Parts: sequence; C-alpha cells; structure tokens
Amino acid sequence: MSLFAKKPLSLLMSESSESEKGLKRTLTAGSLIALGIGAIIGAGLFVRTAAAAAQNAGPSVTLGFIVAAIGCALAGLCYAELSSSIPIAGSAYTYSYATMGELVAWVIGWDLILEYAVGAATVGIAWSEYLNNLLVSVLGVKAIPYEWCHSPFEHSVDGQFHGIINLPALFIVTALTLLLIKGTQESAFVNGIIVITKVSIVILIIVFGWHFINPDNHTPYIPPASTYVDHQGLSHHFGGIMGILGAAGVVFFAFIGFDAVSTAAQEAKNPKRDMPIGILGSLAVCTILYILFAHVLTGVASTEDFRTTGKEASVAFAINKYMIGYSWLGKLVTVAILGGFSSVILVMLLGQSRVFYSMSKDGLLPKAFSAVHPKYQTPYKASLFILILVGLFAAFVPGDIVGDMTSIGTLFAFMLVCAAVIVLRKTNPELKREFKTPWVPVVPILGIIVCGAMIFGLGWTNWLRLLVWLLIGFIIYFAYSRKRSKLNFPTNND
Ligand code: ALA
Repeated sequence: MSLFAKKPLSLLMSESSESEKGLKRTLTAGSLIALGIGAIIGAGLFVRTAAAAAQNAGPSVTLGFIVAAIGCALAGLCYAELSSSIPIAGSAYTYSYATMGELVAWVIGWDLILEYAVGAATVGIAWSEYLNNLLVSVLGVKAIPYEWCHSPFEHSVDGQFHGIINLPALFIVTALTLLLIKGTQESAFVNGIIVITKVSIVILIIVFGWHFINPDNHTPYIPPASTYVDHQGLSHHFGGIMGILGAAGVVFFAFIGFDAVSTAAQEAKNPKRDMPIGILGSLAVCTILYILFAHVLTGVASTEDFRTTGKEASVAFAINKYMIGYSWLGKLVTVAILGGFSSVILVMLLGQSRVFYSMSKDGLLPKAFSAVHPKYQTPYKASLFILILVGLFAAFVPGDIVGDMTSIGTLFAFMLVCAAVIVLRKTNPELKREFKTPWVPVVPILGIIVCGAMIFGLGWTNWLRLLVWLLIGFIIYFAYSRKRSKLNFPTNND
C-alpha cells in the first residue's frame, strides 16, 4: 500500500460516465457562471472588506483586492485546465488524486473542508450581522441580544457584552442544508434570481456611493506601516506592504467560490467546454466589481468607523451614516445581502458535500457519505454530517477567525492545484485538454508565489491554525482512511 498511489485517469473517467446512475446532469455554462457568481459575491465583499480596511490596509484594501485577484486568476487558469480534462465531482481533491497521489489528495480534501465548511460558517456569521441590521434598521424592532448572536470568544467593542452562541448563523446553515438535500436543480433556479439581485446591488452602491467619497478617507491611500491591536487584543500588521498582503489574504475570501464551480463538474451537461467558461467568466465579472466597490466603501466611511461602530454590517452602516437621502438603499442592501449570503452558503455546502461524496467513493471517508437519497438523488447523509461541522463553527467561533482560516486553507489548496497542472503535463502529456493553461510552468509557478505571499501576509496565528488543522487531518488519514482506501485495497467494501 502506497502513500503515493495515483488513481488511474481511465478509472476516473469511467466512474464519471457512470454518473447518470448517481448525480443528475442538469447544469449549463450559464448556470455554472451563475453558480460561480452565486458563490463568489458574499461576506468577503460585504463584511471582510471593511475588516481588512480596519485591521490591515485602510483604503489600500483595493490594492489587496488586486493582489488577490491576480492570485485567483493564475490559480483559476490552472483549475480550468484540470476541470476541463478531468470533469468529475470533487474539485481539487479529485485532480490531485490522479496527479500527485493519495496522501496529497487527502491533504487537499481535508484542506477543502476549511474552504467550504468553515467558509459556509463564516458567511453564516455575516448573515447573522445583517439579520440584526434588518431587524433594527429595516423593521424597526429590537436587535437580537448580543450574547445570542456572537461566539463565546467575542465581546462587544465597549466590552459590555459577551457572546454565548450565534443562533441566527446556526439557523441559516440548517435551513440551507435542508434545501440542498431537496436537490441542486431547484437550488440553482433560486440561485439565479439571487445572483441578479446581488450584482445589481453592488452596482447601485458603486454608482450612488461614488458621489459620497470623502477624499480625506483616502489620504494617505497606503497608510505608513504600524501595528494595530483590535478590541479583542489581537495585533495585526497595518499599512505598508505587509498591510496590503494581509488585506489581500483577508479579502481573498471574497473570491473563493469560483472553484466551487468545478465541484459541480459531474452535474454539468458539457463539462469540458463549460467548466472553463464558468470558472473564468465568474471570476472576471467579480474582480471588476470588487475593486470599484472597495474604493467606494473606504471613501464613504473611515478606517476608524470600521474599527468601532461600523465594525458589523459595515456596508449598511456606511450607507446609513454617510449617504444622506439613501436610506432606501441601505434597506435594500440589507435585504439583498441576506438573500445573497444564502446563495453563497448554498454553493459552499454543495461543494463540501460533493467533495465528501468523492472521498467516500474512494474509501477515504465512511461509505455513508456517498449514499444518495432515493428520491432527491443528493448525498444527503454527507450533507447532514456537514451541517454538524458547519453548525459548530458558525455557532461558536468568531467570524474573523473562521474567515481567515477559510482564506489560508483555500490558498494552500490553490498552491497544490497549480502544482498539479505542472505534474500532470509531465505524467500525462497525452491527456486531452479542452482548455490549456497558457505559459506552463510560468503561470502555475506565479500562482504558487502569489498565493504563498498572501499566506505570508495572514500572519503566524493563521499559519499555526492551518498547521494544527493539517495535523488533525494526518491523524485521521493514518488511523482510518489509509487502511480503507479502495485504490490500495480494491476489495474493501466499507
Ligand atoms: N466569496 C464568498 C464570499 O465572499 C465566499 O462570501
């Protein structure tokens, strides 16, 4: 039994063609782009942008967006090649199983839990912030008490209140898991409507907010390098190059999701053509919107605002406080964001359940995770287990921490995906690639460097979290998965 056993591509392909027996093929290129944008625009833009401005970069968070977009485009080109040549559910996990062997595949699969499950929890927590804003600013009723909508590791900026559990975050991830179990097709339809609303909202904020940019808030555009200690006592590099890299790592969260498109390959009608279109198309649209949006947001409100009263539901805060006459926009944004966040959570949960589905099919996770519901044809047992995992993070861990854990985990997975392209070109030069990453190995190597720089910017506390997460993964692999791998032990039945 080998740690580096590779799953033969021919086996992967034949499993894929059997997929009619399992998951339904219903998604077109258009629905994949919608799926991508649905996953992409969310808490990263509406919550993490202000956090990155407050903690890392002030207005130069826009430069952080540019760095993050470059990293994503480079990794996106690599994703597109892999997903067009290996059109199978499971995303980076599946690609690496074929190219770099079982151990690396396990590491990526384990790492993707940070991206999808912990990412879904992050957006759930952001949803909870905006729910409170809906209650107070839109419906004019009382907010949910601080302790019931924050983690036990958080206290309010004035130190008066302590969190116990984040109930709204728990609620939304539960509701969406149930919707997901009912089926992807219905979810994709709802997703389409939400995507249109979400993009319109972003454009409205850019257009109307532009007139309210206060040049003082943009001066200096790149603050001088210093250290900022937040109200929870955590210190951050602020300003200068490190500030921009840190901000890039934080807002990188806003781009996560375009790769979730690749997890739906097994449900795409024409995966070889449609996957690259879905991945790169959704990425391009979002990049332009983000840079403009961040420029407006940091111009309308100040860095100090985002450290204090505007720390939560920051976009609605900026509109309500500074864009006089636009309170209707603040209300609209709040309602739209709640829907928008839901679509992000949905796609992340979808991505996670499909990764678990593939890992279970390979014997690395219990067989139950690939059990398909007899009526809805979805991996419902995997979804229910994921709900427990996501629910725990959503209810008990602060948004900043889960947000940065998601970023660092995904960045690490992206680096491995870039490496996979180089490896696959060498080991399987004959493989038919509908889409080829240009300038290999330059593009993948640059992808590794830029993503690595963002990991560097996220700081040692996050490196430590990633390390601990990977260690837990290794323990599970050597204690359970390795002995049950179908590739190493083809006769295994469970
Ligand atoms: N990109 C997604 C978001 O920003 C994860 O919410």
